[in-house]
Amino acid sequence: MKTDRFTIIMVIVTLACLFSTPTTVTGSYKDTTNIVPIPVSTEHRNGFFVFKPTIRIIAEQDAQTEASKLIDALAPAMGYRLKLASKARPKAKAVKLAIDERLSQLGGEGYILDVSTEQILIRAKQPAGLFYGIQTLLQLLPAPIFCKSVVKDINWKVPCLKITDYPRFQWRGLLIDPARHFIPVNDVKKFLSVMAMHKFNRLQVHLTDNIGWRIEIKKYPNLTKLASNRDRSGGKGGFYTQEEIRELVRYAEKRHITIVPEIEMPYHAGSAINAYPYIGINPSRVEGMSLDKRWAVLGGLAAPRPETVEFMQNVLAEVIELFPSRFIHIGGDEANLKLWENDPEMLKQMKQLGCKNAHELHSWFIKQMDTFLTRNSRRLLGWDEILQGGLASGATVMSWRGIQGGITAAKAGHDVVMAPTSHTYFDYRQAPAEKGLSRNVINLKKVYSFEPLPAELSNEQARHVLGGQAQLWGELIADQNRREFMAYPRACALIETVWSPKQLKNYKNFAFRLLHHLERLDAMVINYRQLD
Ligand code: ACM
Repeated sequence: MKTDRFTIIMVIVTLACLFSTPTTVTGSYKDTTNIVPIPVSTEHRNGFFVFKPTIRIIAEQDAQTEASKLIDALAPAMGYRLKLASKARPKAKAVKLAIDERLSQLGGEGYILDVSTEQILIRAKQPAGLFYGIQTLLQLLPAPIFCKSVVKDINWKVPCLKITDYPRFQWRGLLIDPARHFIPVNDVKKFLSVMAMHKFNRLQVHLTDNIGWRIEIKKYPNLTKLASNRDRSGGKGGFYTQEEIRELVRYAEKRHITIVPEIEMPYHAGSAINAYPYIGINPSRVEGMSLDKRWAVLGGLAAPRPETVEFMQNVLAEVIELFPSRFIHIGGDEANLKLWENDPEMLKQMKQLGCKNAHELHSWFIKQMDTFLTRNSRRLLGWDEILQGGLASGATVMSWRGIQGGITAAKAGHDVVMAPTSHTYFDYRQAPAEKGLSRNVINLKKVYSFEPLPAELSNEQARHVLGGQAQLWGELIADQNRREFMAYPRACALIETVWSPKQLKNYKNFAFRLLHHLERLDAMVINYRQLD
């Protein structure tokens, strides 16, 4: 008797739960939408919106560019292109996209997605918000929507709900490294598409290093003629023409991703020094030497004399013509400054400039780049070594040797991006038995525990933390398969640390959603690492 009454009560409670609307179940196991990254808030409702070929996409002029991206995204798997119109037909089911200036509380990247049985409505203050609303809508559809060819016999339906969403941080980045192993244009494009689907918005491209130079600079043809011809595995290297760079920038912009170029100096500059020895330390050493021999002698550290400053500024002048990114990364890391301290010309240069030590000379050199970039309405970004010897006034710091550099910079009123080796070096192995650039293991859980905002910063200082970024350094990443294996699913964990509210972070819940999310990555043919 007792059990029966209990059963009846449970049935009533369950039915009440099922039919009461709306229920806010953000982040709970009942959340069957499995969105990654988890949205700020989700109200579940009853029923489904079902797609069919007669459904119109409704958008006024200011939303039509994003609306056509939705049509493009749905067409391959559905097998039909939905029509775009500026007005809905009476009583007809529709998907509506609208720019709404009043939604300023959601910021430039936020959106509200409202799904009923009759209508899907995505509203945002700016096109980027509509784009992210579209990405969420795609994840609400069955996973095969991400297939590139027609998928038959699927009921393309979306659960009724209301999602309100906006990012926690404005910098949500990944870094790729074509300098160590060249990355063909089409591979970069695929990488960008997968990033966009996860709501990443910055791709830093490490275009130059000791081993190779990967960007055409018209003023210095030897950079591509000589300095682009090698890679870390003894391969032939490669480079992007300026036309290809423009194409990649356009491709990324369409997905609301900014490509941040990185031109390394004064160290990691070996390929440029080999092509133009006059920017190296004591170039007379290599007079008359063949290219291959030169390489071994010159090393990777440039000499900060005025001719080198002019060379690098000329390079940056072409770089800023190609990349609209406000931030231009100039590297600045890992310079062995003893090489300057042991060189008579550099000692003289330090004395002339009034530098007390090589750190100050390093800082002087970086400041020349900062002045140049500031004059051209851009901002210098550099690895945290640029703090040593005095930070350039306009500089933003990317903190990689832990987060301390970022804390110091934020306290001094500089913007920072957190990219510590401890959590965000995706060239490190995911399990002890795997290959990686370090013995350290950075598994999914470790990435998920990343917190970009150090507790010790005041509110005012915290505003300087722009966000976080993971690095896929290319020494051991020779092709796209390996890159995808190292990037996913760790990037799924990372995006949740920089997009979703901190209070919604829950690893178990994430791992549960990820199981479903991996079906989406399967549909996109991503070579992600299998879960343990
Ligand atoms: C770095 O990993 N050297 C920034």
